[in-house]
Amino acid sequence: MPIAFHLDMNFNQLKYWMERFSRAVMIVDDRGIILDVNRPFQRLVQLKNHEIKGKSCTQFLTVPAQLEWGRNQMQWLKGKLRCGGANMIKTDIQMLTGNDDHRSYHVLTFYPATPFENIAAQLISHLHLGIVLLDERNCVLEINPAARKYLGMERKEVLHQPLEESIARLQLPEPFSERLIALLSSPAEGCRRTEVEQKVKNAAQCLSITIHPVHDRFSGFTGRYLIIENVTEIRSLEKQIRRNNRLATLGQIAAGTAHEIRNPLTSIKGFLQVIGHRLKENGQYKEQGYIEIMLKEISRISNLVGEFLLLSKPRDVRLQTVSVFKVLKEILPIIKNEAMLHNVQVNIEKNLSSLPVVVADGELLKQVFLNLCKNAIEAMGDGGELTIRLTAGEPESKVIVDIVDMGPGIPVHVMEKIFEPFFTTKENGTGLGLSICQQIMKEIGGFIRVSSGEMGTTFSVHLPLA
Ligand SMILES: Nc1ncnc2c1ncn2[C@@H]1O[C@H](COP(=O)(O)OP(=O)(O)O)[C@@H](O)[C@H]1O
Ligand SMILES: [Mg+2]
Repeated sequence: MPIAFHLDMNFNQLKYWMERFSRAVMIVDDRGIILDVNRPFQRLVQLKNHEIKGKSCTQFLTVPAQLEWGRNQMQWLKGKLRCGGANMIKTDIQMLTGNDDHRSYHVLTFYPATPFENIAAQLISHLHLGIVLLDERNCVLEINPAARKYLGMERKEVLHQPLEESIARLQLPEPFSERLIALLSSPAEGCRRTEVEQKVKNAAQCLSITIHPVHDRFSGFTGRYLIIENVTEIRSLEKQIRRNNRLATLGQIAAGTAHEIRNPLTSIKGFLQVIGHRLKENGQYKEQGYIEIMLKEISRISNLVGEFLLLSKPRDVRLQTVSVFKVLKEILPIIKNEAMLHNVQVNIEKNLSSLPVVVADGELLKQVFLNLCKNAIEAMGDGGELTIRLTAGEPESKVIVDIVDMGPGIPVHVMEKIFEPFFTTKENGTGLGLSICQQIMKEIGGFIRVSSGEMGTTFSVHLPLA
């Protein structure tokens, strides 16, 4: 906002003031020829007075707009000064126009950007936060690279133009543009915040947008700035924490209920067996068959409840040094039996020079391998190969056991959920196998990785070596 200003000062008085002023000052005539400069100016451009005087100011100075001489007022301009060779520095310039004996002159005082301002500008350009500086008419004065990315705008497309117009012209996606326009049309004072979710390359992105007023007393500048922050990860973590809390509560209830179910089951099972014997003695084979079915179903319930208990209240882990190979050998008959029922062939591959010994709980580890092999066999349905492969890990302080199947693979939308308790895609599944495996691995200090494609799925069990 230019302030009307009239500087009528005798030229000598002006020189006296200028020599005692700490900032770089240059005096030019109406044609832009340099009449005088002070010592701070000479220091700044690294030249002597006689090398500067009489030359055109454009040899030292570039300003984006044409300089308008001869106006009796103060103006603020932005420009660049040539300082020693090709070195240009950014500067704010205050220009005053005055008269001495009807000869007008122009006093240019330089306020070069300080190192702090330069560093701040660099910082803003490197920030992951999107920042847009707006003047009081919502015209874009500056937009950093992060904001350009979030808004999908090029700097030169939007600079010095009202942001609302650019939003309309560049056809930003609906909820985003709507919220942004609402923010821009909010009263200039006070902060406002909004959040918007949008799809970027098929993934949901959550952006928080805040608008703040700014006022610079020094230059009289009044405007606002927008801060755009990607809060996708925070929101997804919050969601996960809420879900974990829910599951933890569910787990506690489940543990209590499971106990209550198991005890009566034991007595029902006992009495059914007694009845079964009696029926057999009486030759009621058909009825005895029913009892057999009931007992089988009861053992299914009992197993389910057992898994349930393990999940919600894992027994104390007994960590010892165990041989992975020995653990696998012990459960191999069970795996082979299950595999035979599904026409699946079991291969064991050992890509290791020595037999790995890990720190784990052998019984729990068996459960992990059994669950993974069972899933692999079930995924193949009928026929195929199950490969159990031992390899050295990276770094060498661990061993990896891969359980590889030739099943149909796991679709992406299923993959997200497979470790969740009770998630199953099987008619008779419990959905507890993988979540138990994960829980056990956490306690052993290892982890499970999954990779899946059309050729099948590989579950990799990473174990710390002893
Ligand atoms: N090897 C595999 N191939 C394809 N899908 C699998 C595999 N292992 C697990 N899954 C998927 O993960 C789900 C959860 O497995 P799990 O927790 O063991 O429960 P359940 O076996 O009772 O379904 C399965 O229902 C299945 O959809
Ligand atoms: Mg399973």
